Amino acid sequence: MATKRALITGITGQDGSYLAEHLLSLGYEVHGIVRRVALEDPSNRLNRLSGILDQLHLHSASLESFPSLYGVLSEVRPDELYHLAAQSFVSYSFEDSFSTFHTNIDGTHYLLEAVRKLVPECRFYFAGSSEMFGHAPEVPQSEQTRFYPRSPYGISKVTGFDLSRNYRESYDMYVASGILFNHESPRRGFEFVTRKITSHVARIKRGELTKLPLGNLEAKRDWGFAGDYVKAMHLMLQQEKPDDFVIATGETHTVREFCELAFAEAGLNYEDYVVVDPRFYRPAEVHVLMGDASKAKQQFGWEPTVLFPELVKMMVQHDLELFQAK
Ligand code: GDD
Repeated sequence: MATKRALITGITGQDGSYLAEHLLSLGYEVHGIVRRVALEDPSNRLNRLSGILDQLHLHSASLESFPSLYGVLSEVRPDELYHLAAQSFVSYSFEDSFSTFHTNIDGTHYLLEAVRKLVPECRFYFAGSSEMFGHAPEVPQSEQTRFYPRSPYGISKVTGFDLSRNYRESYDMYVASGILFNHESPRRGFEFVTRKITSHVARIKRGELTKLPLGNLEAKRDWGFAGDYVKAMHLMLQQEKPDDFVIATGETHTVREFCELAFAEAGLNYEDYVVVDPRFYRPAEVHVLMGDASKAKQQFGWEPTVLFPELVKMMVQHDLELFQAK
């Protein structure tokens, strides 16, 4: 069989890097779209890809520019496209909803349209999000649960999801959306709460910091391991028919519980260090997320291999070593 060619937007991020490794291990030719500045500053901006850089084909383009995306697609002509790039930090989307909408909605629209024009047979993965459920009317949330986004980011993902479904239904394209609940790893960005906590634990342990300022400690999230979740993305594009799937662990935990376990892993009591700082509260919060991934399990046998305590341990141990070495 001919080698399959995959194109990943957002390849420099946490999910992009795990997905690229996974696809390489399956024998794919892997291409990625990156910003021009990333190619000019590889040691910082491509650091998550450092182990596989020589096996990748990187192309510069911007989600804000249809011609640049069109140019890359006409050159690569992928069999599968994984659209992971986005302004993905929910807090920031309140500060600049306009640029969040432009990047997340127009960027998705540009890509879908370029695929339709150039490579209509290409299978397209859209990175939806549990943030689309927002103020959800039920727990757990499944593919049937009504969306009620509570942030500009959530709104942008609902629109991207609707656009994706509309391309699937109008043009008979293979477009699948993953509704992924929070997924973390040692490669998570430092602005997200899990990595903020584990990096602070490591720096407090070293004596470099004395406090960890956080916002809402009672928010509940369904946290899984990103390495597991990228496998589901790939499986979604191997089905007979395109569809949408929830990917989650089915457990929910508070930010407070994450703190408790993370500090304990380093032999510390979180109550001695965590302080509530109203600056980290959001104008509108999503209080409880917990997913029901039974459709993915039933259809392609996907199940998480890493659950909450192991995830916290993995991230704390990584950061203890990382900051020890600095
Ligand atoms: N970032 C952050 N920083 N979050 C905090 C803090 C803080 O200091 N204190 C409390 N939180 C709470 C937030 O209010 C939120 O309820 C929860 O911790 C998780 O926040 P994030 O880690 O920033 O993630 P998120 O749930 O908003 O969004 C992530 O998951 C989505 C999937 O549901 C992102 O990865 C999104 O891109 C993704 O779609």
